[in-house]
Amino acid sequence: MHKTKPEQASNANLASTSEDRNSPRRVALVGFGTVGRATAKILCERGDGLLRLTHICNRNVEHKKQPWVPRDVVWTEDFQTILNSDADIIVELIGGLNPADEWVRSALSAGKSVVTANKQLIARHGPDLLQLASANGCQLEFGASVAGGVPVLPALRAGLCGDRLHGIAGILNGTCNYILSRIESSRIPFSEALEEAQAHGYAEADASEDLDGGDARAKLSILVLAGLQARVSPGDIRARTIRSVDAVDFDYAAELDCTIRQISRADLKGTTLFADVGPSLVPASSPFGRVQRNLNLVLTSGEYGGDTAFLGAGAGGDPTAVAVVSDLMFVADGLAAEPRSHRPLKLEPPKVSCDFETPWYLRFLVKDQPGIIASLAAVLSAHHLNINAVLQKPGFDRNALPFVITLEPCRDAQLHPALEKMAALSFALKPCLCLPILR
Ligand SMILES: NC(=O)c1ccc[n+]([C@@H]2O[C@H](COP(=O)([O-])OP(=O)(O)OC[C@H]3O[C@@H](n4cnc5c(N)ncnc54)[C@H](OP(=O)(O)O)[C@@H]3O)[C@@H](O)[C@H]2O)c1
Repeated sequence: MHKTKPEQASNANLASTSEDRNSPRRVALVGFGTVGRATAKILCERGDGLLRLTHICNRNVEHKKQPWVPRDVVWTEDFQTILNSDADIIVELIGGLNPADEWVRSALSAGKSVVTANKQLIARHGPDLLQLASANGCQLEFGASVAGGVPVLPALRAGLCGDRLHGIAGILNGTCNYILSRIESSRIPFSEALEEAQAHGYAEADASEDLDGGDARAKLSILVLAGLQARVSPGDIRARTIRSVDAVDFDYAAELDCTIRQISRADLKGTTLFADVGPSLVPASSPFGRVQRNLNLVLTSGEYGGDTAFLGAGAGGDPTAVAVVSDLMFVADGLAAEPRSHRPLKLEPPKVSCDFETPWYLRFLVKDQPGIIASLAAVLSAHHLNINAVLQKPGFDRNALPFVITLEPCRDAQLHPALEKMAALSFALKPCLCLPILR
């Protein structure tokens, strides 16, 4: 898109002579942790003349210094030093909202382009920050903020922008995928799979953001921003936890030729965005069903190009640093010519709904007694819901008996009143686990 550069942009980042255009772009790194260190390493080892690491900013910088960083790189604890420097591009890799938000805004306001991997920042403030970048004639790139090393955001920005995308679905949280695929492969309890993920460093001590869907819905809102050009606050997207999924659900899912994954999905229909994050049944032989351990998969659906899939490492210092450096190269190319802005957003944010129409998997845990199926069928029938199948595997304790009813497609809003009624029945030991079946 062509755009006029405002006057503020007449400083550092606008090359004017061919000598300027050919000289390496100066890169200041803010945050020298897992991704920051890996990014610095690539920048120091590349030596292709396009990018030059000039500054590194971190607190307690004396403890961070590395012998492999060239001696002319300036180490500082003071962000103002970075802001006042001649760096063309600032890489924000400290994470979180404070002070990252303020620092990114001041960098963009000073006409410096920014590359960040900060999903919290982009999910919350992405639209504002893109506007600020555009108003100051500079670029903001955040390719590493979703799916780490999987280049899905650059693909949405470039390779797929000729299509009119209407749907995005993905396995966006490696922690959840690790836990679910471990339960699937070894039929271990949820708690054991979580402990194992923590022991391997795939889950934090407090993994609530991952398990309860907060992380994935932030990522989904960024994909919606980049792919569907719609602003959605992460808090408006329903997130369901994976904590209630257990080994028995994989046994029942297998009976249906399915497995279980945390799926984040968004479908734009007119002015409504249908969006949901949570555990779902997917066919075992489908691309989602085959994703193991902590990998990420994103599928996009376009009006003209149909479905496209992106698979790879969703996290880790090196894969994420590759995404950061790729963004840096994209920005550097843009600075040599003219900064490129993202596609304009739809003016009105869509209405967000989780009222998908799908078949459902309901797993009950009951104290066995005569008449259970008849009671449940009566509630379902009173709400005009059709049973598709009843599955009951032998060998369980009759005092805590798990069995499954699958339903023919119905809307989420139609099902929920029936779930409440069924949870109140005397034989129910807990509310049933209710998962959409995605075909
Ligand atoms: N790690 C991944 O696999 C991954 C994948 C995708 C995206 N990301 C994103 O990448 C960003 C960086 O993640 P990371 O894993 O590299 O985090 P990290 O290892 O915790 O590194 C953050 C670095 O920033 C420094 N820092 C934090 N707050 C600071 C402040 N106020 N002033 C100065 N320095 C500060 C920290 O210093 P101290 O060491 O002193 O705390 C640390 O060196 C985050 O936004 C994250 O969500 C990470």
